Amino acid sequence: MTFVKGPVTVRTPASSANLGPGFDALGLALTLYDEITAEVLDEPGLEIEVSGEGARDVPRTSDHLVVTAMTATFDLLGERPPGLRLECANAIPHGRGLGSSAAAIVGGIVLARALVEGSDARLDDRAAFQLAVDLEGHPDNVAAAMFGGLTIAWIDGAAAEVQRLDTSVQVTAFVPSEAVSTEKARGLLPETVPHRDAAVNAGRAALLVAALTVAPERLIWATEDRIHQTYRADAMPESYKLLRQLRVEGIPTIISGAGPTVLSFARGVADRVPQGWSVLELDVDTEGARTL
Ligand code: HSE
Repeated sequence: MTFVKGPVTVRTPASSANLGPGFDALGLALTLYDEITAEVLDEPGLEIEVSGEGARDVPRTSDHLVVTAMTATFDLLGERPPGLRLECANAIPHGRGLGSSAAAIVGGIVLARALVEGSDARLDDRAAFQLAVDLEGHPDNVAAAMFGGLTIAWIDGAAAEVQRLDTSVQVTAFVPSEAVSTEKARGLLPETVPHRDAAVNAGRAALLVAALTVAPERLIWATEDRIHQTYRADAMPESYKLLRQLRVEGIPTIISGAGPTVLSFARGVADRVPQGWSVLELDVDTEGARTL
């Protein structure tokens, strides 16, 4: 196996999952990016530099999520490089429901593949997506991070599947200063939900795909959720309050992924940002992860 000489850079988008009713299925890639550059070293060793989001917290060891994903990819391709130098320039906030871990995993896989000569045929996008889902555990964020646009992802047995669609929706993300872990947010979900709530979600999720592609006037109905957001409110009360407030005003708004970011399918609402939060006006990324 031959490794590429010199540095390679991959850019991976942030993503919002669930989008209200599409729990663990819908994803939307956003124009906010992490950039990772890596170079294979002839000598053993691992050098990691991190700037931007998470720079104070992430490990500079083989436990770094990008390195974990790269190592899994090299193993799948059949050989690990002697050494590796890595630079991560992070713009996606960590622990906010904007797909930072999916971006790290997808970015690491695409980067490792790009560092191995002729690997595209041995690890095509479908196989790369499967590996990303196996590492992340949920397909929704990784589908959007890998393919861009609006994605519907599902698992058939162990096989991850995705349908990608285009959408030109614009969003405003309200990002609180405190993180909430996906693990904690998932721990608040009940084992079962009432049949009537499941039925509402199924209808709204179907409507949401139409609203995001051909019928934006339906978005306020299409973004209604009954199976996860309310159950998670105790872990993110301020987010839930803002969600309710914006929806009462008629602005289609959801909790992004497992939260606590609040996402409106609207522009011109940035003045609603609570004190201490940041606001990001974003478009939909159409490309997904790619080498620069
Ligand atoms: N669908 C996931 C959740 C998003 O809401 O827990 C994180 O992958």
